[in-house]
Order: sequence, then structure tokens, then C-alpha cells
Amino acid sequence: MLTNEGFDLWADDYDECVDISDNNESYPFAGYKIVLNEIYNRILNASYKNILDIGFGTGTLIFRLYQQGCNIYGQDFSERMIDIAQKKMPEAKLYNGDISNGLVEALLEHKYDAIIATYSLHHLTDSKKVTFLKSLLKQLDENAVIYIGDVAFENRIEHDKCMKKVGDEWDKDEFYFVVNEMKAYFPDMKFEKISECAGIITLKK
Ligand SMILES: C[S@@+](CC[C@H](N)C(=O)[O-])C[C@H]1O[C@@H](n2cnc3c(N)ncnc32)[C@H](O)[C@@H]1O
Repeated sequence: MLTNEGFDLWADDYDECVDISDNNESYPFAGYKIVLNEIYNRILNASYKNILDIGFGTGTLIFRLYQQGCNIYGQDFSERMIDIAQKKMPEAKLYNGDISNGLVEALLEHKYDAIIATYSLHHLTDSKKVTFLKSLLKQLDENAVIYIGDVAFENRIEHDKCMKKVGDEWDKDEFYFVVNEMKAYFPDMKFEKISECAGIITLKK
């Protein structure tokens, strides 16, 4: 499991590393750009204004929304990732905090039109994901939505099929969404498969 210091060390090479994996259509980032583009387009088409990004990293997705005039909020626990993102988006409200402990106080004071989490929630165990997602649902405004883009699968069979194919490269410290299992807690959770290992999960109040 990568710690915040691990992400600090990764931060400067992160974008390049993701690009290589996505361009090679290989786990874990196969489909990354499509996932981010889809979420970006849906938020713009809905004219959502207040956006919270969980584990925003270098700010790849929210920077584009920031340029479109959205109010950007975010939480991440890597100081270096925050530095990089904040330089791109001086007006964004970005906070340092471990999502295992929930949202930081300052973010709990707002409601959001969209909460996004791309490639970040797999760092939480399933039971922590459930607790955290339930808390995020309370922060949604009317007609608002949570978009999760991540390594994710419709069911355990798909998950295990991908794990077998990836072999030694599979990261055993990460906990990927298996959507039909999460539906026990969020019956309306929706999954769209984007690549062999990635998908978009949608959750509403
Ligand atoms: C793989 S990167 C994804 C970055 C970005 N969302 C993207 O799509 O490229 C995961 C991000 O989540 C953050 N993260 C991981 N675990 C976290 C935790 N427990 N609390 C807060 N941030 C966390 C990392 O610091 C990193 O910036």
C-alpha cells in the first residue's frame, strides 16, 4: 500500500507513468483517458459548478474543469501532489487529509454538484469505501452525482479473470470495486465498463 510519502515520490513522474500504461492498453491505466474524458464531458454537459475531487493527484481532470470556470475543491494526502495541482489551479480549495478518516472539516461545510474520485478509492478497503461513500452522499446537492473512475469490475468473475491475465503485475495491496458486491450497500450503483480493467461507477442520493 502506497503511503503519502510514496505518492510524494511518484508525483513528478505520475502523468508520464499513467500515459505509458494507458497508451499500451495495459493494467492498471488502460482506458484512463477515456474514463477521465467521459466524466469531464458529463460534468460540463450537466453545467455542474461545484466539484469535489477525492485523491486529485496532479489535478489532470479538475484542471480542465477549473479552466471551464468550475469551483474546484479537493482532498489528497500527498503534499507533493497538492503542490503540483495547486500551482495549476491557484483558486482551487485543495486540502491535505487522509480519506480513511473521512473528509476534512473545511470540505464538510459545502455541498457539491459532483464528487469525483478517479483511481483513488481503490486505496481503501471495501468496508472503508462503504463508510466513506455514505459520508460523501450526504455532501451532494440536489440532482448531484458521484462519479468514480477506477480499476473496477462488474462482478468477481471479471475481477479474477483480469487478475489472472495480469499475473505478477497485479497489485495485491489495492482493493478494486466489484460493483455487484457493492450493490448490497448501494442498490442504485451503476457500472459502465470502459476497458478490460477500468470502468465508471455512478452513484446518486
Ligand atoms: C493513482 S493517484 C490518482 C490521481 C488522479 N485522481 C488521477 O486520476 O490521475 C491516487 C491519488 O490518491 C491519493 N490518495 C491515495 N490514498 C489516499 C488517502 N488515503 N487519502 C487521501 N488521498 C489519497 C494519492 O496521494 C494520489 O494523489
